[in-house]
Amino acid sequence: TKARDSLHRFPLKKVRGVPLLEPVAQNWESISSFCPDPSDLLIATYPKAGTTWTQEIVDLLLHNGDAEACRRAPTIVRNPFLEITAPPPIPSGLELLSRMKPPRVIKTHLPIQLVPEGFWKNKCKVIYMARNAKDNLVSYYHFDRMNLSHPEPGPWDGYIHKFMNGELAWGSWYDHVKGYWAEKEKSNILYLFFEDMKENPRREVERIMQYLDLSVSDDILERIVDLTSFEVMKNNPMANYTFIPKIVFDPSISPFMRKGEVGDWVHHFTPEQTKLFDEDYARQMRSTNIPFRTNI
Ligand code: A3P
Repeated sequence: TKARDSLHRFPLKKVRGVPLLEPVAQNWESISSFCPDPSDLLIATYPKAGTTWTQEIVDLLLHNGDAEACRRAPTIVRNPFLEITAPPPIPSGLELLSRMKPPRVIKTHLPIQLVPEGFWKNKCKVIYMARNAKDNLVSYYHFDRMNLSHPEPGPWDGYIHKFMNGELAWGSWYDHVKGYWAEKEKSNILYLFFEDMKENPRREVERIMQYLDLSVSDDILERIVDLTSFEVMKNNPMANYTFIPKIVFDPSISPFMRKGEVGDWVHHFTPEQTKLFDEDYARQMRSTNIPFRTNI
């Protein structure tokens, strides 16, 4: 079919030194000049850090825990993905945004230096979700296998090096987490951790609620925690990415909702790979004190 011909594993192309999917780089002028409304909320993450989970929590908070309301459309339609650009007929993030009235919840994987100026000028709220490097890397590896619009991940050992060298789509994990961390006070960014969410989801959902100046009852808070558990989201067709055609996301290779755990990296890294990775990590993260945890 036509769709099958136009969809393929895109190469990466750099924008200001950051490798992005080629169609995103080609559309860069329009993306970077997007101007949000001050009421818009940005959810920013490095790919596979828990974006979808955060999006579902935010949507439920904004709808006072109404599960039906949050099943009105798939995640990608409820919260446009700012920079995503695909061949027609798949709408780009900018197209979806142009059809929605503020306040909107917008997803991005852009590193902070590439986020359109308008978000800062208009003092938009920004939620950043970060995940420890090793689990983030494992999750990205399986995602790159099943997402047939991303470059081939290649063998696992080589993939570790691509991650360490910042050669994957959206660039360096290290620069990404450090960039938002450095700006979080100045720009009023709510900086969250995947591991904290797993450890005590209720506490973290409450933090998000407060950041958004919302207030929901204790019962509803509990309900939101239940509705955003891994098991429930895995079975929610509007949140589990089964809405993406199988010629783009192939769940027979790896499901989008894969494991949702902290510490799965131990089943992937050999002791030698751990040593190499940890040494490099210490070098790349020397200048910062972000409290990442690789197990809970
Ligand atoms: P795994 O591949 O480790 O399972 P993103 O939404 O940023 O693409 O991140 C996807 C990762 O978050 C996947 O990790 C996915 O399983 C996990 N995830 C999604 N929803 C989750 C939830 N409710 N609880 C825990 N993990 C979740």
